[in-house]
Amino acid sequence: MKAVTITDFGAEPLLTDLPVPEPGPGELLVRLHAAALNPFDWKVADGALKGAVEHGFPLVMGSDGAGVVERIGPGVIHFRPGDTVYGQFMNLPYGRGSYAEYVLAAENGTLARMPDDLPFPVAAALPTASVTAYQAIEAARLDTGQVILINGASGGVGQSAIQFAALQGARVLATATGDIAGRLRDLGADETIDFTTAPTAEQVLAAHPDGIDSVLDLITRPGGDIDALAGLLKPGGTFVSTNRAADPDALAAREIHGVNLVNDPSRKELESLAALADAGKLRITIDAEVPLTDAPAAVARARAGGSRGKTVILL
Ligand SMILES: NC(=O)c1ccc[n+]([C@@H]2O[C@H](COP(=O)([O-])OP(=O)(O)OC[C@H]3O[C@@H](n4cnc5c(N)ncnc54)[C@H](OP(=O)(O)O)[C@@H]3O)[C@@H](O)[C@H]2O)c1
Repeated sequence: MKAVTITDFGAEPLLTDLPVPEPGPGELLVRLHAAALNPFDWKVADGALKGAVEHGFPLVMGSDGAGVVERIGPGVIHFRPGDTVYGQFMNLPYGRGSYAEYVLAAENGTLARMPDDLPFPVAAALPTASVTAYQAIEAARLDTGQVILINGASGGVGQSAIQFAALQGARVLATATGDIAGRLRDLGADETIDFTTAPTAEQVLAAHPDGIDSVLDLITRPGGDIDALAGLLKPGGTFVSTNRAADPDALAAREIHGVNLVNDPSRKELESLAALADAGKLRITIDAEVPLTDAPAAVARARAGGSRGKTVILL
């Protein structure tokens, strides 16, 4: 089978031929039809989990995907060949990911059946980005009419987070450059902030001098300075980071609830999100669809920034 692999941490992704894996006890073999890119994929390839989990090389990149169950291993009872499934394919030792024609999944892993009419690229685009958005907005504990800033709103997580926050009845402030502001308003943003014209925090403070209720920060790196963004929050507000930038103890001293969110999808959440997407209630922007042969170049483009939705590999 064709797969995009790296031979070591930090190495260039390459299109490679590998044997099709055999499902062991409790495992399924899935013929993938689509895989979606996430920043996590190249963070792992660069060694973000080095020392924390075992890796296997050549390491097949990727996590999110959608396809059809090809074969099942002994003892599998909930899935059958021919089932259409999607989810996160993160097998240990880490390195049997979704940028490949075939992938293994544990029956009890992060996997769910797809609605019949949901296109494979949309299903593949959902697991990491939309589950993170959903869980981040839950963590933000929004009440109707409360104000949330989504910092980094124009990418995969941000676009779904705008929709979940709007569904909660919140007033949504979304960072956006001019090219994407209209799209984000269409998804549910009430105000857009062009962070290239002046610092985001200054613009939010000018429009909301009494402060806001929540910040979802998709941008600040671990150890980065969140002071200006956290300073926007009223006492009792919530600061959610997807990049471990929050220091919950330091924030608590300022009467702010700090959360470093790590997505952890349940099968039920995956099924709910797919049903929302299928019903058109969760809209996913597919920014680019590329064949597997172009996946290494697509990874390089995505790494460089400028995401306006999801990049999907067609398999
Ligand atoms: N903890 C978890 O479980 C988890 C799960 C998913 C994602 N994440 C992390 O969350 C972050 C977002 O993920 P994603 O999939 O949405 O990434 P993405 O699709 O690459 O989107 C990031 C967006 O942020 C914009 N951006 C860059 N700098 C900005 C700034 N200073 N102010 C405002 N916007 C800015 C980018 O546009 P421009 O480049 O054009 O500025 C891009 O549209 C990533 O760091 C990812 O690793 C964590």
